[in-house]
Amino acid sequence: MKIHDVNTLIEFEKIDKIYQMGDSEVRAADGVSFKICKGEFVAIVGQSGSGKSTCMNIIGCLDVPTHGHYYLNGRDTATLDKNEQAEFRNKMLGFVFQQYNLLPKLSVQENVELPLLYARIPPAERARRAREALARVGLEGKCKNLPSQLSGGQQQRVSIARALAGDPSVILADEPTGALDSRTSREVLDFLKNLNAGGNTIVLITHDNGIAAEAQRIIRLQDGRVVYDGPAVDAARVQFAEGVVG
Ligand SMILES: Nc1ncnc2c1ncn2[C@@H]1O[C@H](COP(=O)(O)OP(=O)(O)OP(=O)(O)O)[C@@H](O)[C@H]1O
Ligand SMILES: [Mg+2]
Repeated sequence: MKIHDVNTLIEFEKIDKIYQMGDSEVRAADGVSFKICKGEFVAIVGQSGSGKSTCMNIIGCLDVPTHGHYYLNGRDTATLDKNEQAEFRNKMLGFVFQQYNLLPKLSVQENVELPLLYARIPPAERARRAREALARVGLEGKCKNLPSQLSGGQQQRVSIARALAGDPSVILADEPTGALDSRTSREVLDFLKNLNAGGNTIVLITHDNGIAAEAQRIIRLQDGRVVYDGPAVDAARVQFAEGVVG
């Protein structure tokens, strides 16, 4: 029996993800181990193809490792059946994607309510929580609007509100600023930092070193392996040194 530290939310233990491509295999994750604790703001960085989305999909219970163990809040996710997995995912994780994934025909508030609907929260409670989450992202005045009537940054804030409404333990953001200009990216980033300051645990996936440097901690992937795991400040220096050397 594994002893679980109550502060550890996410634990990767020697995770491999191997894709079979005809005769050859691709090791998209190659012995990845790390722990993420409550209240942390971690950026997972690396170049295109380094394995970020592979890790993100495993963290989000959208995919399973080939070898190794993924513990979410102390539970080995391999022991969960499909229903338990979905339930666990709904309760533990809030997703923010690069493409906001808002449904165009639903109002802003209805979009935020959607995961609560799946979680079978009653209508009045759903509406209350959605409005509260929208207020937290400063969009209380836009509840009735359609997503297309909002700017890109505002749409991303709606998707953050949608992630927040379920009151998840972890917010998983995959390239959340990828589709935004630099000023709006800044806004969204500051917003995530605020949420973290308020106690939310955030895992941010990005290929952008400048954005990663805003996190407290960086996990850098290269060819499916962790090549750095530590404070963001040091990671910036390592990156710089690498640049100078070669
Ligand atoms: N379904 C799949 N089948 C085969 N190979 C895959 C599959 N998904 C990913 N890969 C390979 O695994 C490696 C890691 O891919 P991954 O999508 O995790 O990279 P990434 O870091 O997210 O890249 P990007 O920044 O471009 O999104 C790549 O070599 C990729 O080609
Ligand atoms: Mg990716």
